[in-house]
Order: sequence, then structure tokens, then C-alpha cells
Amino acid sequence: MSDLAVVMQAQGLARHYRVGGGGFAKASTVRALDGVSFSLSAGRTLAVVGESGCGKSTLARQLTLIEPPTSGRLLIDGQDAAASHPPPLALRRRVQMVFQNPYASLNPRKSIAQALAEPLVIHTALSTGERQARVAAMLERVGLRPEHAQRYPHMFSGGQRQRVAVARAMMLDPAIVVADEPTSALDLSIQAQILNLFMDLQVATGTAYVFISHNLSVVEHVAHDVAVMYLGRIVEQGPKAQVLGTPQHPYTQALLSAVPTLRAQDERQRIPLVGEPPSPLNPPAGCAFHTRCPRAVARCRSEVPALRTVVGREVACHLAGTP
Ligand SMILES: Nc1ncnc2c1ncn2[C@@H]1O[C@H](COP(=O)(O)OP(=O)(O)OP(=O)(O)O)[C@@H](O)[C@H]1O
Ligand SMILES: [Mg+2]
Repeated sequence: MSDLAVVMQAQGLARHYRVGGGGFAKASTVRALDGVSFSLSAGRTLAVVGESGCGKSTLARQLTLIEPPTSGRLLIDGQDAAASHPPPLALRRRVQMVFQNPYASLNPRKSIAQALAEPLVIHTALSTGERQARVAAMLERVGLRPEHAQRYPHMFSGGQRQRVAVARAMMLDPAIVVADEPTSALDLSIQAQILNLFMDLQVATGTAYVFISHNLSVVEHVAHDVAVMYLGRIVEQGPKAQVLGTPQHPYTQALLSAVPTLRAQDERQRIPLVGEPPSPLNPPAGCAFHTRCPRAVARCRSEVPALRTVVGREVACHLAGTP
């Protein structure tokens, strides 16, 4: 079935940044993204969750080809997009991005019609008339009116602006849209509308989404699959029902414990999340979560746990699956 075609595969994707080194300071390495692997199929949404600083936006920049990874492979339609930078134009149009703040991502001097036509100017040979027709059709699709085409970004509400940003991302019929906290800056009542817009467009187009959010209720609403990140790595990933329903990693359990409506009924899975995540400049040895994990044993302090399959999902914890 073509619906299940794999459109994106990340294999050990890593991005390290060199920082410091000026004057007498010693240069060091921030391991912002440290070996992330997943597979994404057409029409599916992979939600990425984790605390601030765990590397979600860094991952988004690798997936949207804004930045080349330090190592690893990123296959888009089976082609390695990380092999050359900048990657070929034909590959770049296949993946588009929606940012948290639509005001920052839309040029204030360009009308909505210009903003939406721009990707078509760059990537297609369509005539002016054909471009206008596509812009009009897309405006309608995202719930905006024809007269909105001639307006400028500052004339819209936050929710409308995010509709424009979604429209712009969809103009080239991309295989994948990466959305980085696309509703976090919006009022609660508007958030649901934008989430539903994303979901309706996915049903209509089959576009795959990587949907980044720190909000587990949002994730519960939009995801098919969930990846939980901690300090640059995925610690648990799999179908939403498994990861959110019966979380196996103590970190996932702790994140869920903080959300009353999603909290596991099982008392043993209620774990308070205490303290701050460690710095990716100097990550702890062994399992990076051991410094905050109530279940940690000696092995966790020395041996990095690899992802392995435990009851229908992958989890990187030495103790997962043990009583
Ligand atoms: N260009 C850079 N140079 C140095 N360090 C960076 C750079 N970009 C990101 N980092 C560091 O990498 C880590 C991950 O950052 P990132 O922005 O990806 O996190 P995030 O999960 O998106 O956080 P948030 O939820 O706050 O948006 C952080 O420690 C950050 O300081
Ligand atoms: Mg971020």
C-alpha cells in the first residue's frame, strides 16, 4: 500500500556544537543531538516530546536540511539528504517547516499572496495565473478568505498567521512537514483549531508530520507515534497507545505523571520529575537520566542503555521490562 511508504529515515543523526575557545577559555562540545534514529511513513505523525534543551529544535533543523548533521544519515525518499550541503533543490522541497512563531517566519513586507506564491516561484515553472490559482485554493483549504491574499502578516491574528504559515509549508505538496511547537504561542481555544487543521490537511494530502511539542495533551491529540527525547537521544519510541498508555521508561513515566488527564492508573508508574536536566556540555556517564531516576542501580551509572524492544515499543533503560 503506497500509504505506508517510508518517506523519511533518520539513522544515528547527531549534531554537536563547538563552543567557547575564545581567549583562555577551553573549547568544548555541546552534544545537542546525539544519535537519533526513526522511520516515518506517509500520512503518519511522529510526535517528539521532551523538556526544554533536550534537542528538539536541533533535530528539526537537521530534518529540514537547514543545518547539516555532524554525523548520521537522513534518508528522504530513500536518498541521503545529509550527503551534501546544501542538499539538491529537488530534495529540499520535499520537507517543509512550520515554526512556533509565525510572525517571525513571515516577511512583514510581503503580502500573503506573495508569501504563498514564493515557494512556487523558486521551485516550479508555473505561470503567474497558475500560481494565483494555487494560492487561492490553498487559502480556502486552510480556512482563510480570498480577500486575505492582499493583506500583510501584521493584519492577522496569531491563529490566522499560523494558518498562513501552514499554507506556505503545504504549497509544494511536501512529503514531510516538520512543525516545531506550532501551537505553543497560541491561545488555548485557537490551539485546537490549528491542530485540527494540521490533521485535516494530513488526511487530504497524506503528508507525514514530525510534530515537536513539550505539551503531552497536544501530543495525545495529534500523534500516531511518539518519540521521547532526553539529552539529545530518544529514550522511548513507538505507537502512541504504547508509549503514553503503558510507558516503560522512568522518564516517560515521570513526564506523564505531571499530566493529570494522561497519568497512568498504575501507582508504580507515578514518578515525580525532580531537578533540571543535566547539561549536554557534560552529560552524565551511563544512562543520562540516572541522576534523576528513582530506580537507578549501579549499572545505570556506568553503562549507556541501548534502545531495545519491550512490550511493543523501543526503550533505552536497563531495567525496563523487569519487575
Ligand atoms: N548553535 C548552537 N550552539 C551551541 N549550542 C547550541 C546551539 N543550538 C542549540 N544548542 C544547545 O543544544 C541543546 C539543545 O537545544 P535545542 O534548542 O535543540 O533544545 P529544545 O529541545 O528545542 O528546547 P526548547 O524546548 O527550549 O525549545 C541546548 O543545550 C542548547 O543550548
Ligand atoms: Mg526548541
